[in-house]
Amino acid sequence: MISIVPISDVEPQAVEHLLDRAFGTGRHERTAYRIREGMPAIPRLSFAALEKDALVGTIQCWPILFDGDDGRDVPLVMVGPVAVEPARQRDGIGRDLMLSALNAAVATGDAAALMLIGDPEYYGRFFGFTADRTTEWRVPGPVEQRRLLAMGDSVPNGGGMLGPRIAALA
Ligand SMILES: CC(C)(COP(=O)(O)OP(=O)(O)OC[C@H]1O[C@@H](n2cnc3c(N)ncnc32)[C@H](O)[C@@H]1OP(=O)(O)O)[C@@H](O)C(=O)NCCC(=O)NCCS
Repeated sequence: MISIVPISDVEPQAVEHLLDRAFGTGRHERTAYRIREGMPAIPRLSFAALEKDALVGTIQCWPILFDGDDGRDVPLVMVGPVAVEPARQRDGIGRDLMLSALNAAVATGDAAALMLIGDPEYYGRFFGFTADRTTEWRVPGPVEQRRLLAMGDSVPNGGGMLGPRIAALA
């Protein structure tokens, strides 16, 4: 049986090792890491999946900022990485973790502007994320525009740059 617990219940080193196994050790070079560089994950939106006390999945969410070309700053929550132990993938654990984070975001009032970088075939199909409003967004590194996804009533529509939300640690 899988139980979803706050990520603070798990050793930080165990989380890092799982992320290495799911994404490879070069993961720190990814654009997603640069967007939230220097930010701590938001504890109330970050979870671990345990199976008989063994860590089999994690999700972390981060405070980021959209610096709009029109002068408007919009705080967003970056969702992910979602990582599932390779041997346990495709068994619903990723979905459980995503739903835990999304439900928590609704409960805590953090769901107005969510974004992530990921496959629309997964995050669109199961959770409703789309690239409709991200066409003019810029990020600090390479990204396939179709994988720059967002969801929520306050997601900005125009041009602007994504980066860490330095002034407002969650
Ligand atoms: C992507 C990931 C988090 C999904 O978690 P999971 O527990 O394996 O997936 P789930 O069991 O929740 O969902 C399975 C369903 O999603 C589909 N799916 C999984 N990954 C997919 C992808 N990248 N694109 C499209 N569909 C995908 C499966 O085909 C399956 O569909 P089905 O139910 O119709 O058979 C996990 O596979 C993983 O850790 N991958 C490596 C790291 C990664 O790429 N993370 C995402 C980027 S942030």
